[in-house]
Amino acid sequence: MRTIIEPFRIKMTEALPITTRSEREALLASAFNNVFLLDADHVTIDLLTDSGTGAMSDRQWSALMLGDESYAGSRSWRRFEQTVREIAGFKHIFPTHQGRAAERILAATRLKKGNVVPNNGHFDTTRANIEYVGAVATDLPSTEARELQSEKLFKGNMDLGKLEQLIEAEGAGNIPFCMLTVTNNTGGGQPVSMENVRSVREILNKRGIPLIIDACRFAENAFFIKEREQGFADRTLLEIAREMFSFADGATMSAKKDGLANIGGFLACNNDSWADDFRNLLILTEGFPTYGGLAGRDLEAISVGLLEALEYDYQRYRHATVEYVASALISRDIPIVRPAGGHAIFIDAAAFCPHLRASDYPGIGLVNALYLEGGVRAVELGSVMFGKPAPGGGEEIAAPHELVRLAFPRRVYTQSHFDYLIEVLDAIGRRREAIPAYRITEQAPFLRHFTAHYERV
Ligand code: F0G
Repeated sequence: MRTIIEPFRIKMTEALPITTRSEREALLASAFNNVFLLDADHVTIDLLTDSGTGAMSDRQWSALMLGDESYAGSRSWRRFEQTVREIAGFKHIFPTHQGRAAERILAATRLKKGNVVPNNGHFDTTRANIEYVGAVATDLPSTEARELQSEKLFKGNMDLGKLEQLIEAEGAGNIPFCMLTVTNNTGGGQPVSMENVRSVREILNKRGIPLIIDACRFAENAFFIKEREQGFADRTLLEIAREMFSFADGATMSAKKDGLANIGGFLACNNDSWADDFRNLLILTEGFPTYGGLAGRDLEAISVGLLEALEYDYQRYRHATVEYVASALISRDIPIVRPAGGHAIFIDAAAFCPHLRASDYPGIGLVNALYLEGGVRAVELGSVMFGKPAPGGGEEIAAPHELVRLAFPRRVYTQSHFDYLIEVLDAIGRRREAIPAYRITEQAPFLRHFTAHYERV
């Protein structure tokens, strides 16, 4: 059969709120034109994030009942540890309440002021945790990543030449670890090839620099490797994931993505003395090392979810859904990052709104148009999220791209929901020159996109 179907059927439903345009106009105004400040009850199709928004399977729901809530040494912890080790193989595994808790512990214990951390693309919380301790987060995406329209297969790769240059310039002693984010979320959800992981490892080996994988979407990355990289077509996703992790000294993970869970994460490493530091801080801020900020039942749900994310039919359907929407948008002349990412489609808001400058925040304009037109919620990854204040004041430094992300929650929306999304974007696309500029009227010093207030210019 040519039709790739959802490899599940629906056993429980959740009503979607349907609103009118005039209701949405009033709701967005009272949220200061920031969709993060809307009540979810007022959002019809929520594509804000694929994080923690997935639907759990019947096997996960039944695993919840097996949760052992013992404070120390629970059965659920053992199962969690075994599952993570089966996939990723690390010696020390620490559960955390989500990915950023793992990042915080890693940054706080390993970094000093002035240290540099290379990454193919830091996610915003990773960058913020590194900068919070006074270190520098440096993105080294491949040159192909900058060509938004080119159909290269592994645009999430790290630029190896730039990595070598950075190590030369900084000295290995100032780089306590290097990170690789699979898939590269901020770079468009693009995958990293096994060859690139291996080459990064070889470069780091020469200078004794550890490699940490930001593994949020490790299963989606494994799927891309299987489909696109020579020599992997006959390997299972589990085997591919294992090989990928075998090149790393540790990992940070948000189980809210490829853990197919609503909360959770982990930090892992092989080094015993790193593990001591992680454990001590974990106890201080997350919890005892056998639950780390999670309930026993969460550990159970994640253990099942991590393996379900590696099921080939699931990944195949997920990717087919993203491709279905991507090709519909391309045929409607809506500029998107190509190829489509693993968990999301990224619209090039700068190309979509040529009448707006970066300082007009075209991404916010498009995000707000999506809400007003159809009650769809998306997120800006552009100059609000990544823009920087200019050193001497004046107009801020724009982000390299003005993207809007349509993230795909896992196993949540059906094809007709995506047909609706395509129709909404089609309508906006026909009147794109009507998208207004926005300016910020209030902002926080860190991660301002979450709480900023905007007004139309
Ligand atoms: N790393 C990457 C690549 C991420 O995408 C995220 C979260 C994190 C780390 C942090 O994990 O949320 O569990 O603390 N990304 C979400 C998103 C929030 O919408 O892309 P967390």
